[in-house]
Amino acid sequence: MGDDNKPVHGYDIGLTHYGDRGFSRFLRRGFARSTGISETMLDKPIVGIAMTPSAYNNCHRFMPDLVEAVSRGVLAAGALPRPFPTISLGEVNLNPTSMMFRNLMAMDTEEMILAQPMDAVVLIGGCDKTVPAQLMGAVSAGRPFVQVVTGPMSTSRHRGTRVGACTDCRRFWGEYRGGRIDDKEIGEIETRLASTAGTCAVMGTASTMASIAEILGVALPGSAAIPAVDSMRLAMAERSGEVAVELIRKPIAPTDIVTRQSVENAFRGLMAIGGSTNAIIHLTAMAARAGIRISQTRLNAISDETPTIVNLKPVGEGYMEDLHAAGGIEGVLHELKPLLHLDTVTVEGRSLRELLETPPRWIDRNYIRSADDPVSPVGGLVTLGGSLAPNGAVFKRAAATPSLFESEGRAVVFDSLEDLALRIDDPDLDVTPADFLVLKNAGPVATGMPESGYLPIPRKLAEQGVKDMVRISDARMSGTAFGTIVLHISPEAGIGGPLAAVRNGDRIRLSVAEKRIDLLVPEEEVARRLAAFEPRPLPERGYRALFAQSVLQAEEGCDFGFLVPRESAG
Ligand code: FES
Repeated sequence: MGDDNKPVHGYDIGLTHYGDRGFSRFLRRGFARSTGISETMLDKPIVGIAMTPSAYNNCHRFMPDLVEAVSRGVLAAGALPRPFPTISLGEVNLNPTSMMFRNLMAMDTEEMILAQPMDAVVLIGGCDKTVPAQLMGAVSAGRPFVQVVTGPMSTSRHRGTRVGACTDCRRFWGEYRGGRIDDKEIGEIETRLASTAGTCAVMGTASTMASIAEILGVALPGSAAIPAVDSMRLAMAERSGEVAVELIRKPIAPTDIVTRQSVENAFRGLMAIGGSTNAIIHLTAMAARAGIRISQTRLNAISDETPTIVNLKPVGEGYMEDLHAAGGIEGVLHELKPLLHLDTVTVEGRSLRELLETPPRWIDRNYIRSADDPVSPVGGLVTLGGSLAPNGAVFKRAAATPSLFESEGRAVVFDSLEDLALRIDDPDLDVTPADFLVLKNAGPVATGMPESGYLPIPRKLAEQGVKDMVRISDARMSGTAFGTIVLHISPEAGIGGPLAAVRNGDRIRLSVAEKRIDLLVPEEEVARRLAAFEPRPLPERGYRALFAQSVLQAEEGCDFGFLVPRESAG
């Protein structure tokens, strides 16, 4: 029943503890037989397939087809595919916010990879938090893995206008709030925004994380932007299954792929694609799992020296299907080549240098600009410091109004999400377009850090045609959103950060040039206000209590402190 010196593979990995290894193996093989597999298959190495179908996750609607395609690749390469479920996070169906459950899914993924017998694993995710959760879990688990994404939705049409989730969702909703679209038309638009399977069609968080997986090298080259409904996606999934088997024969550990250099490449790619602010949190968390930290100073340096070259919504014009047709992320990497670390390793065992040796056959310059003719000469995102955000904040300059970059305004403060919902449309709200809207208590500890940082323009100003204002919070915002919005203020108001001290009428100064957000109130006064700070009660039981007690602040990726290797925990 086994030779102790032989490497352990397949069903012999991690036997269940019954106090008798022979019996454990006998029992496991006996029960595996009940799944209907032959002895030949029983002795094969195993590729686990972490699948995440759910009726609550429309973005994963084609999961069964992808699982079948990955399984086909695994079988053809000579291993046994074993699909297994983990929790699935459908962005718009989770209360209070999917962010609260990313770490739960990461734990689920890590523990199921480690607890079950598998030599390698293919992860299939797509919707915003699923890919970050899978990457975090798989990096910590340490087994060779390949990331497959479900792919972006295709676009649709509304009265002749091309539409796709979800930058257009926000644009149309703004028009509706401003009274320029009626009830009937907004109902029509509702049927057109998300008309196929797949993830949001623009460069939102899901598309950004798919791109980052490809740039890091944990997903196949060319895979990020293939539309969900395109047959190429199934062929790519099949090849991913095959690659997972190659990883068993010639292992590449996750930490051989996720290195300081590949993480820097990923941050650089994030800037070049005009990607989501959320990706800073997710990439920070995933890198920390591998013991890697990139400072905010380094992040800003990368942003300042990297042009934004991808012309997709919300910072530009196109959709993910256009990026795919234009040359995909490989086309972007070719353009960024002089700025990249080229000795990083991809999941197929090739270096980025080898991958980029052959020039691209076709680049559509409408969507992938050259570095000489960029959408913007600098990267899409920057981090801010200053007295209001001593540990950092994030600003998406690519999706903001340049005339507001250097501005000072009067604070109009909302103490909570409930307060915001109650008063933002009050006709008596004392607010002008030059004011700064401030939302408190929407950070990770207070509420799980929902995507509430895209504060709506107060209705009375929206009706006057006001489209943008400076908005400040400790919340996140959707990667599909746009505006002059300062996010991820840290420390958050809920734990007594300076944001907690802001009062109606205070002056605040934003300087994107200096990368600062400052509360123009004397230090002693801020200290006096904070001395009277009283935290709001936190959940006392279950996962929500664990979350509130363990979540780190945004600049540390909002991971749980106990999941981060000691040398990375800050
Ligand atoms: Fe799933 Fe946008 S809701 S990616």
